[in-house]
Amino acid sequence: MGQSRAVLLDSFGDPEVLDVREVPAPQAGPGQIRVRVTAAGLNPMDWIMTADADTAARFGLSLPAGFGTDYAGLVDQAGDGVTGFAPGDRVFGGALSRSVADHVAIDLAGAVAANEAHHNPDGVDDRTAATLTIAGRTASAALAVVDPGPDDTVLVGGAAGGVGVFAVQLARIAEARVIGTGSATSGPRIRWWLPPRPSMSGSPSPSSP
Ligand SMILES: NC(=O)c1ccc[n+]([C@@H]2O[C@H](COP(=O)([O-])OP(=O)(O)OC[C@H]3O[C@@H](n4cnc5c(N)ncnc54)[C@H](OP(=O)(O)O)[C@@H]3O)[C@@H](O)[C@H]2O)c1
Repeated sequence: MGQSRAVLLDSFGDPEVLDVREVPAPQAGPGQIRVRVTAAGLNPMDWIMTADADTAARFGLSLPAGFGTDYAGLVDQAGDGVTGFAPGDRVFGGALSRSVADHVAIDLAGAVAANEAHHNPDGVDDRTAATLTIAGRTASAALAVVDPGPDDTVLVGGAAGGVGVFAVQLARIAEARVIGTGSATSGPRIRWWLPPRPSMSGSPSPSSP
């Protein structure tokens, strides 16, 4: 069956409860792929959902629980009936509260973020891909609702945060004017990625950290 490592929790709580353990490697069942994880991304939801038993229960977690949701890596098993994925494919996606591990099994018929896999485009490294599913898609969904264009100004609160970084970039791709807010600590980073639009050279910086 093979061995693997995973971060596991025997109780919900602060980071002290996280423990790296040797575990049997998960196997890809029918309709599932197994991914050799090369990068795992963390979001506030990961420590919010494991912070206490009541919250964990709302996310359907039970003990021992894993940790982390965003992942990127290589498919190393494809179960019966799997189409569209094969061993060797570079993928990224979501494995709800179990991505900080050597291997994750993904049920391709599963729910968004809980069991999700996408092909990783050439040119996107694994560490970047492991930030896309939670924060990237949240920003993308928000921008899809707002649907900004060149005549719009988009205000992004928490522009230095995981979601904010994507929201700023997506709004700029849509050629909107972007105002990003953040703490004084985040100010330099926000100024760095919120330069004036080329078409606005000579006008005041749209950054407002
Ligand atoms: N519903 C969903 O599917 C979904 C998915 C992802 C995230 N979320 C939620 O979206 C929010 C952002 O997530 P994230 O991953 O971007 O988190 P994050 O990386 O921690 O970023 C949060 C940002 O908010 C700013 N901030 C913190 N406290 C603030 C305050 N009191 N007033 C104003 N700004 C404050 C921080 O800015 P400074 O560092 O500059 O202080 C930080 O950059 C979280 O609430 C998260 O739970 C929801």
